[in-house]
Amino acid sequence: MAVRCDQTVAWQALQGHHHAHGRELDLRQLFQDDPQRVQRLGFEAPHVFGDLSRAHWDLMSRRHLLDLADECGLAAQRDALLRGEVVNRSEGRPALHTALRAPRGQGPFSAEVHEVLDRMLAFVDHVHAQAHITDVVNIGIGGSDLGPQMAAQALAGYSVPGVRAHFVSNVDGQDLQRVLQGLQAGRTLFVVASKTFTTQETMANALAARQWFLAQGGQDVAAHFVGTTTILQAAAAFGIDTTFGFWDWVGGRFSLWSAIGLPLALAVGSAHFRALLAGAHAMDTHFRDTPLADNLPVQLALLDVWHGAFMGYRTRCISPYDHGLRRLPAYLQQLVMESNGKSVDAQGEPLTQATSEVVWGEPGTNGQHAFFQMLHQGTDVIPVEFVLVKQPCQPMMDAATPALRAHWLAQHQALLANGLAQAQALMWGKRTDQALGEAAPTAAPGLAPEELARHRTFPGNRPSIVLLLERLAPASLGALIALHEHRTFVSGALWGINSFDQWGVELGKALCKDLLPRLASGDVAGLDAATASLIQRLR
Ligand code: F6P
Repeated sequence: MAVRCDQTVAWQALQGHHHAHGRELDLRQLFQDDPQRVQRLGFEAPHVFGDLSRAHWDLMSRRHLLDLADECGLAAQRDALLRGEVVNRSEGRPALHTALRAPRGQGPFSAEVHEVLDRMLAFVDHVHAQAHITDVVNIGIGGSDLGPQMAAQALAGYSVPGVRAHFVSNVDGQDLQRVLQGLQAGRTLFVVASKTFTTQETMANALAARQWFLAQGGQDVAAHFVGTTTILQAAAAFGIDTTFGFWDWVGGRFSLWSAIGLPLALAVGSAHFRALLAGAHAMDTHFRDTPLADNLPVQLALLDVWHGAFMGYRTRCISPYDHGLRRLPAYLQQLVMESNGKSVDAQGEPLTQATSEVVWGEPGTNGQHAFFQMLHQGTDVIPVEFVLVKQPCQPMMDAATPALRAHWLAQHQALLANGLAQAQALMWGKRTDQALGEAAPTAAPGLAPEELARHRTFPGNRPSIVLLLERLAPASLGALIALHEHRTFVSGALWGINSFDQWGVELGKALCKDLLPRLASGDVAGLDAATASLIQRLR
């Protein structure tokens, strides 16, 4: 049985190290003391370079963290995951998302995986060849929405001309209603995406979409609705003939690579979808074969444990400096917090420390004009995770005129310069004496220069990391997502938790079933006073 990280000898060593030196860790000093720090803490992985040099750790903490990984049997846990052992014990299943992107003939379930993939991509090619579908509406939520939606935005530059992808998730009917405005039934393909085919939001929206389709004069429901699910009979009962299945060993938030990727494949074409899978597989190979000390997902997860449990950094700000990745924070919220937000370990034993950071963020540069004030000058220290992409997106490179292309390139340089500047400002800060030496702004007449300088001081020594991509393309996006999947798994494995179940979402679902008829009937018998009172107000 794997040892939980907080029960290891290395944990005690880390505690001792943190007690003695944690508060003293100053990035500026660490760089001065170690001229090789950038080289030592830069990790090459397929399509992604990780610069972890501005994280709040030193050589000794890293050494203990690697010991921790050994004591936790991390390599064996990783191999068990990849072999298809039942790592999701509370649901009695393996978690084999890596099998979905393994090349034909490799990995478990290869025949089944490639049969569905081939059939799905043949369907995609057929839809594109027929050219009468202009709008694809994916109806799904959580893992049946966030992955394909985030990826379709990220790969907008690779879109098949004439096909628009829309994503509807919320049980609030406005979500669907707004998407349907301006669509034509005969030119719209609905993808009803649900692993379980029971999810309230998805079923409600699918029924509404069918009613809209018929009301618009739509003729052939079977030709305009397809299903992606593990429960093929449920899709058939809905009246859906064309279904692409997947398996219970694919977790919802890990399902982009399965039939759940259909709307993405419809948006960008089958070749780009295959390239996405290949990029993810390249990251899987790195994860499987690279020694832990050089393994980017492992290093990120070790850092997460150190930052979270020892340095006390409970949140992680995701700051992608690429507008295509604007939904990456939302995607990572599900991946990280639904996977690792647990309070018992895999054996059901209580945990005493948080096993998931709170993940949040906004794309750069928008975040700079919103919450970066707090990141720079607030009293909380919040590690920031920058994603930088070297090349501008393809449509900007292909601009209609050389002048416009040059302008787009200049804007892209401004984007990169902003990201670099934020990381620099976080680390270096600005001392009060530096602020005092600056020309005082005219806006604060009568204020003593020393007081003004205190407002204009930045503490610095704030950690950040950079994930750098050459370009945002199908393969690199696949690798980036797989990197985060493995990082999340490794954190969970170190904590000894099951990263693949999500019992925490069930209670609210069950209570909602009870409350829905009460909203109509007004029956508040047996309810707590707060809920009963609100039901009365809402009627
Ligand atoms: O919110 C809980 C959850 O079960 C997620 O794990 C899942 O991705 C989402 O609901 C959607 O589930 P389904 O694909 O079964 O509709």
